[in-house]
Amino acid sequence: MGFFDGLKRDNKQSHAPEAGPSPLNQEPEVAQREEQPSIEPNIDEIEVTIRERESTPFEAVPVQPLKSYKDKAPVRHVIGHTKVIAIINQKGGVGKSTTAINLAAALGEMGKQVLLVDLDPQGNCSSGLGVEKSLIQRCIYDVLLNDVPIEDVIIPDIAEGVDIAPATINLAGAEVELVAEMARENRLKDAVGGMRGRYDFILIDCPPSLGLLTVNALVAADKLLIPIQCEFYALEGVTKLLESMKRVKSRLNPTLDIYGILLTMYDSRTTLSKQVVDEVREYFGRLVFSTPIPRTVKLSEAPSFGQPITQYDPKGRGSLAYIEIAKEVISRG
Ligand SMILES: Nc1ncnc2c1ncn2[C@@H]1O[C@H](COP(=O)(O)OP(=O)(O)OP(=O)(O)O)[C@@H](O)[C@H]1O
Ligand SMILES: [Mg+2]
Repeated sequence: MGFFDGLKRDNKQSHAPEAGPSPLNQEPEVAQREEQPSIEPNIDEIEVTIRERESTPFEAVPVQPLKSYKDKAPVRHVIGHTKVIAIINQKGGVGKSTTAINLAAALGEMGKQVLLVDLDPQGNCSSGLGVEKSLIQRCIYDVLLNDVPIEDVIIPDIAEGVDIAPATINLAGAEVELVAEMARENRLKDAVGGMRGRYDFILIDCPPSLGLLTVNALVAADKLLIPIQCEFYALEGVTKLLESMKRVKSRLNPTLDIYGILLTMYDSRTTLSKQVVDEVREYFGRLVFSTPIPRTVKLSEAPSFGQPITQYDPKGRGSLAYIEIAKEVISRG
């Protein structure tokens, strides 16, 4: 018995006239039904449509093979010092991956060379830039745990000026597997260190936790960019993040510092957003980027098209905001 059989039966049960001893009971019921045409969907039609869909083969979409680092387009300009920035906040859903994708793309469009390292097993940066994960044979997991050179996993020119070291779900095992490894906190630093001088910026998209992957990012990074969502409890967890930063700074990465605080999902119509901006500015002062990223539906739609906002909606508020942030990043040096 299929799903629809059950549905049909339920419908009948709930709308069936109550059985009465006399046939007279049925007449008013029939009249009533004729007066009020049914607004319920015709289950039989839906069933037929679904059966037709199921029997129609999907059109084969040609899948483009992934490019390798050797296919990288020649770099257009002289590269100075590489800045490694971890986009970090152990709080989930604050706009880390959205910022990583769109800041990378905005910097790329402004003529910078950017490597985006997807360090989150969710792989949101990879899918958000249209990487077909089923084609990835090796990802950042293999760099961290199987001594694969990072060049061997980088997909070049995923957007203008942007290369990506992608993540797949394999990376989820890294948190546990790294525990038993030697120099487990330094794996990413060693990998990324080899790429210094080849990019202007290396952006690392961190997972929403303070586990070993995030510690690897803290050790590999020169600076931290902390997105803070303009919502209730915006600063929740930030103290813990700053404590982790201080611990890593004192033992493993003495030059680590905050690069900037980025206010995300700002809604100018709400007093809450304004209060959060005031509170965060009071706490972090000039570290806060002057442009907040507005809440816009285009920013949440763009990843499903595998495009950064600068391609998906180049003239929109989200795109303009990330271009402003990219300008600030370049001017901060
Ligand atoms: N400025 C914005 N306006 C509207 N939607 C946004 C904006 N920024 C992010 N989003 C949406 O909010 C959700 C969370 O964003 P995102 O994935 O970037 O957060 P995250 O911090 O990387 O999350 P996680 O901690 O799970 O990795 C996503 O659905 C994203 O599309
Ligand atoms: Mg993310």
